Order: sequence, then structure tokens, then C-alpha cells
Amino acid sequence: MIIRFLNSMLRATSTIYLLIVFSLCFHSCNNDNASIEQLPTAHLNQNKGLHELSTIPIGGAISINKVLADEKLKDITIKNFSSISATNDMKMYSILRDSTYSFEKVDKLLAFCEEHDKRLFGHTLLWHYGLPQWIQDEASKNGAASVDKFMKDYISKVVTKYKGKVVAWDVVNEGFETSGGDYRKTFWYNQLGAAYVEKAFRYAHEADPDAVLFYNDFNLERDTAKLNGVLKMISELKEKDVPIHGLGFQMHLRMDIPDSTIAYCLKKAADTGLQIHFSELDIIFNKHNDSKDGGEQQYTELTEEMKLQQAEKYKNLVLMYRNIVPLDQQYGITFWDFNDRDTWIKPFFNINDWPTIFDENLDPKPAYHGFADGLKSKSPKTKI
Ligand code: G3I
Repeated sequence: MIIRFLNSMLRATSTIYLLIVFSLCFHSCNNDNASIEQLPTAHLNQNKGLHELSTIPIGGAISINKVLADEKLKDITIKNFSSISATNDMKMYSILRDSTYSFEKVDKLLAFCEEHDKRLFGHTLLWHYGLPQWIQDEASKNGAASVDKFMKDYISKVVTKYKGKVVAWDVVNEGFETSGGDYRKTFWYNQLGAAYVEKAFRYAHEADPDAVLFYNDFNLERDTAKLNGVLKMISELKEKDVPIHGLGFQMHLRMDIPDSTIAYCLKKAADTGLQIHFSELDIIFNKHNDSKDGGEQQYTELTEEMKLQQAEKYKNLVLMYRNIVPLDQQYGITFWDFNDRDTWIKPFFNINDWPTIFDENLDPKPAYHGFADGLKSKSPKTKI
């Protein structure tokens, strides 16, 4: 009886909380003097890059060779972002292409960041996807102990090399199943069990005690079972004093994911006290099943109306981040690829889509101005 009463109180409190979050977000949106239709000219007049409009670090994920070979891409990267992630150049398959370490691209990326005063965010130390077979064979030669040694050597070598230069790392990427709250059965998990996560964080911390260490995953803003699984792992890690400092919400969003769900998940994550990074933001229109070639071409063209709806979604998202994540936990918002020409969405899901803030010609879309408007909004950065 008492438990049932407490449960219903809990449900009522959650509902009230969500109403408060939404009235705040709604209030912020309405307080904004520019309507979506006015956005393009309102922002262009100021001619400021996104990161100049914001105290939140604003990031872009790039391929350094592509950026250096394309003046327009380079200009928009330098102008808009204060933080840089590598789409692929810092992955294990890129650094350990064969049995020798190859750091040329990372060094080039670091030089670019230093020249242009950008924060370099390390993506990523451990990931299952694209892990070459030779690494798996080599690492598992003598069983678990040898995998552990390989993992430690790799993390220590890479993090030590960029100590004090790469200020934060996605230590483990996508360690949970696509949906639900279970650990993903990756090579690392199969060899070492769930303990591989703890070990990886400890090795990274030993190599650079000042680096901010993140766990990073997708669908955390919409799949509460997955989010709960990840939060449980985080609280277990914290109980054991494992040095984990941040949680990355990849934020590969879709237009129809309700803002209420995103706000609810974001609040739960912010309550951990961890740094919160929107680490790979894009917003698609079409659906997919989260696997290669799994896109469903529902929308074949991008209409003016869709552009404005996307602008509003980007704007609401930045307002939510500002309203829900306390200032000292706002690690930043990073766009993945950030233009509709280079987006990973099209080749990966084998569909056409328009998920980013710059179009195929690298010109800003209404989405860009919607996002900028969210940054510029005078809404109070309320601690909820
Ligand atoms: O560079 C080769 C090129 O030489 C070759 O002709 C071409 C043919 O397929 O492939 C090119 O490599 C591709 C590479 O991207 C660069 O474009 C790989 O096949 C392709 O698998 C790789 O995809 C990347 C994917 O991670 C796998 O590493 C995407 O660019 C990258 O955006 C994506 O990023 C991930 C995050 O790390 C984690 N979260 C999800 C996100 C999106 O999948």
C-alpha cells in the first residue's frame, strides 16, 4: 500500500518535473525575438561564428586531410568551432593500420588545432566497430592476459603521446547493445568481461591524470533502458573510484524523437554530476534500423517547410542543453561531419538525407541559424 502510494507520488513528481522543463524551454523559445522565418537574416548580419556566440564549447568532427584540401570547409571549421573531434583519424584502426603505430594524421590534426586555437577532443580509444581482424588475432594470442596487455599498451602509448594536448577522450565508445541495457558483446567484452571498461579508464588516467575521460554512446536520449544500463555502469564505476568524468550523448537524432523524451534523459544524465557532451550531433528526417544499409527513404526531397522544422529542432535542442545541463557540466556540443555533402548518414544507411547545419554547397541552412538562435537566446541558464 505504502509502496504503491510512493510509486504514484514518484510518477506525479516526474510529470511535474517534465512540465517545468518544458515550460522553461517553451518560455525560452517564445522569449526569443526572432521567429524561425526571420532566422536567416537575423543571424547573417552579425557574421559571427557559432562558437563566438556561446560560452559552451562548440565542436566539429573532421577529417584533417579533407579540411586542409578544401578552403571553404577549412574556413567554416575555423570560424564556427572551438573544439575539434576526428571523425576517423584517431580510431584504433587508423592509428594501428598495421602493426606499427602511425600518428601522422593525428599530428597534423593537432598542429591545425594549435595553430587555430581549438580544443582537440580524442575520439576514441576503444571501439568494436571496424576493429581489424589482425588486431583481434594479435591481442588474443595468449588469452585474456594478452588482450589486457595489448589494451594497456595501446591506451598508454596513445594517451601519453598526446598528454596535455588532447584534453579529453572517449575512452570507451558504444559499449552497450544497440537497444536495451546490456553490455555489447564486443571483442573486448568477450575477452575481459565488463571489467574491460574499468581497466580502460584506469589506464587512460594513469597516462594523463588531467585528461577528461568519457563514456560515449548513441540513443541515450531516447532509449531509457539503454540509458539506465549506462547510468548503472557509471554509478558502479564511481563506487570503485574509477576515473570517469563525462558522458557523451552522441545525439544522432531524428526529427520525430520527442523533445520531452530528450529532456527527460538529459536530466537523468546531468544528475550524475558528470560532464555532458553532445558528441556527434546531427538530425535526420528518414528512419533507419541502426545498421549498415538500414535506411528507409521516406522523404525524397528537403522542402522549405522541412528546413524550418529542422531549424526549430536544432534551436530547441540547444535551449534544452542550456536549461538542463548545469553550466559547470556543459562540456560542449559537437556536430558530426556538419555538412550535408560529407555526412556519414548517406553512405552508411544508403539513403539521401539532410541531417546537418550546412548544405551540400557548404552554405548555412536554416538549421544553422536555428542553432545560432538557441545559443544567442537570453534565456536564463537555470539550474533545474
Ligand atoms: O577511406 C576509405 C576510402 O579510401 C574508400 O574508398 C571508401 C570505400 O568504402 O571507404 C573509406 O573509408 C570509410 C571511412 O569512413 C572514411 O570515409 C570507411 O569505409 C567507413 O567505414 C568509415 O565510416 C566511418 C564510421 O564511423 C566507421 O569508422 C564514418 O566516416 C564515421 O562518421 C563514423 O563515425 C561513428 C563514430 O565514430 C561513432 N558513432 C557513430 C558514428 C557514425 O557511424
